[in-house]
Amino acid sequence: MARVLLLLPSATYRAADFMAAAKALGVEVVVASDHRQTLAGVIGDRALRIDLRHPPSATEAIVAHSRRVPLDAVVAVDDQGVSVAALAGARLGVAANPPEAVAATRDKAALRRALDAAGVAQPTFRVARPGDDVARLAVEVGVPCVVKPVSLSASRGVIRAEAPAEAATAAERVRAIVCEDEQDPPVLLVESYVPGAEVAVEGLLRGGALEVLAVFDKPDPMEGPYFEETLLVTPSRLPAPAQRAVVEAVRDATAAIGLVEGPVHAELRIRPDGGVAVLELAARSIGGLCSRTLRFGMGVSLEEVILRHALGRPVDALTSAFDASGVMMLPIPRAGTLVAVRGQNAARAVPGVAGLEITVPRGRPVRPLPEGDRYLGFLFARGETPAAVERALRAAHGHLDVVIEP
Ligand SMILES: Nc1ncnc2c1ncn2[C@@H]1O[C@H](COP(=O)(O)OP(=O)(O)OP(=O)(O)O)[C@@H](O)[C@H]1O
Ligand SMILES: [Mg+2]
Repeated sequence: MARVLLLLPSATYRAADFMAAAKALGVEVVVASDHRQTLAGVIGDRALRIDLRHPPSATEAIVAHSRRVPLDAVVAVDDQGVSVAALAGARLGVAANPPEAVAATRDKAALRRALDAAGVAQPTFRVARPGDDVARLAVEVGVPCVVKPVSLSASRGVIRAEAPAEAATAAERVRAIVCEDEQDPPVLLVESYVPGAEVAVEGLLRGGALEVLAVFDKPDPMEGPYFEETLLVTPSRLPAPAQRAVVEAVRDATAAIGLVEGPVHAELRIRPDGGVAVLELAARSIGGLCSRTLRFGMGVSLEEVILRHALGRPVDALTSAFDASGVMMLPIPRAGTLVAVRGQNAARAVPGVAGLEITVPRGRPVRPLPEGDRYLGFLFARGETPAAVERALRAAHGHLDVVIEP
């Protein structure tokens, strides 16, 4: 039986879907995590405690473990594990990205520098180190601008500023958010604000060749000051030339960074003049529970595709099994304690709705962006057209009443 090591960070939404995929493929799983609870139900040699924040020591632990329990693949389910997957993959001689390439995707400043060196279209940017004059950097990139941490994700700490002084104020707020999680003095990016429609691209790299699995539109305008992700709908309704430009830009970006194997997730904007800008490139698949919008061939999940590829098994028939599908990441409207999410049955009964998962337990404290770090839940829909999917998601969301007490 083939055996795969899954890197499961504590905060991942993806554990169940990857475990189900392994089961469907008849693959044995070793779970490596920094989280005691993630490992709780896993027995003996199938569980490995590692420190994901320290990739070299995590890699040593995996290599040592693999001498007793041989591994055929190492797969990171989320961003937090990609550096370890690259280092361990190289040591074990299994399909993996170069560690330097993956490192560039883990630091938004390093990503910007690498894309810049290769001439890939992206926002104008400056790196703001502790003590730097953010207002001056905002003048240099031009306003409106976006201030963001180099290290966080899911739009946490990403703030648009209309004027240089506002950028300096935003930087203080972003630094405070980073300091909640990290000891090091925060490094920020100051970028020109790119107007236009935003898309997300899901791809699979095999030997350096990129196959696009899905292009998602983000039909809710994301104009700031905070950038809550809500709707993702695929296939894209953009005209074919724009979609080709998007795919070309993702191809250029992956080549510039040096990614060669496994899933990639990119976010881009199409400017009003038609030019494309790469906002983000990650060496992982789409986050949250959003992969549930995708099925390939006869109904294969994205997680199965990723595991198959990692194990060197054939992955053909990557055409979508759905005409159109989408997800709404349910935003957290205000800070407080989650008391209830009412109207779930009515939301599920909307034609086209394929599922609803509330991922925050009742009684938990919640807070909105830019500080917040989780979604309330995920609403899924399928339909004959992207427009029908979008309508179903909006109608279902309209039935939900989120009760949050201060
Ligand atoms: N320069 C920019 N111009 C316009 N919008 C931007 C810009 N930078 C970020 N945004 C908006 O903010 C959102 C989040 O930014 P970004 O993707 O850089 O960080 P993140 O989502 O926190 O990181 P990750 O994608 O790794 O989770 C983007 O999807 C986009 O809507
Ligand atoms: Mg992003």
